[in-house]
Amino acid sequence: MERQLTLALSKGRIFEETLPLLQAAGITVTEDPESSRKLILPTNDPQIRVIIVRASDVPTYVQYGAADFGVAGKDVLLEHGGEGLYQPIDLNIAKCRMSVAVQAGFDYASAVRHGARLRVATKYVQCAREHFAAKGVHVDLIKLYGSMELAPLVGLSDAIVDLVSSGGTLRANNLVEVEHIMPISSRLVVNQAALKLKRERLQPILEAFERASQANND
Ligand code: PRP
Repeated sequence: MERQLTLALSKGRIFEETLPLLQAAGITVTEDPESSRKLILPTNDPQIRVIIVRASDVPTYVQYGAADFGVAGKDVLLEHGGEGLYQPIDLNIAKCRMSVAVQAGFDYASAVRHGARLRVATKYVQCAREHFAAKGVHVDLIKLYGSMELAPLVGLSDAIVDLVSSGGTLRANNLVEVEHIMPISSRLVVNQAALKLKRERLQPILEAFERASQANND
């Protein structure tokens, strides 16, 4: 029998923090992606399955309808552009912030004041471009796919734009936050066609997610 609903999640914080929302909708994921290494996970409801994809790929799976709905960070959605996606709910999970950071001792404020052209390494090229353009800061952006904290330490860049949660990774690498760009949390994203064609199945889940996510509101 063909399954009716596919939910796209990424491993780690988003998966862990989506579980209580699924629980509120009566859905239990019956295998752990960390131990099973499976990419398609069954749930207690034979009509609902979870697929495990890279965080930055969640919008793509949902956009093309390979997943009916998914959970993606605001950072990922801004970089993707959100085409073909309905974004009904901020789930208030996987909260962190997007920030500019530099090596301790680098005088960022003075460099900006003097109109220096800064090299900035980041995975978030769109967000970074908009941020610095709005501030009138001249930057050369270097696209990286991870371990951004390394870039200033080895002379690849003057600054990074990255997500900061506890601040532990910055501290461990002798970096300091110099600007907050925006708060980040994860949103529910729904394929626009699925919303129409599978509304009956989706609607109660969306409502349960919305109710449960209100509890995450500070
Ligand atoms: C994120 C981010 C930082 C780290 C920040 O990486 O890119 O490296 O978490 O968290 P902290 O402030 O609590 O130290 P993540 O571990 O999600 O991996 P990623 O690089 O694959 O995004």
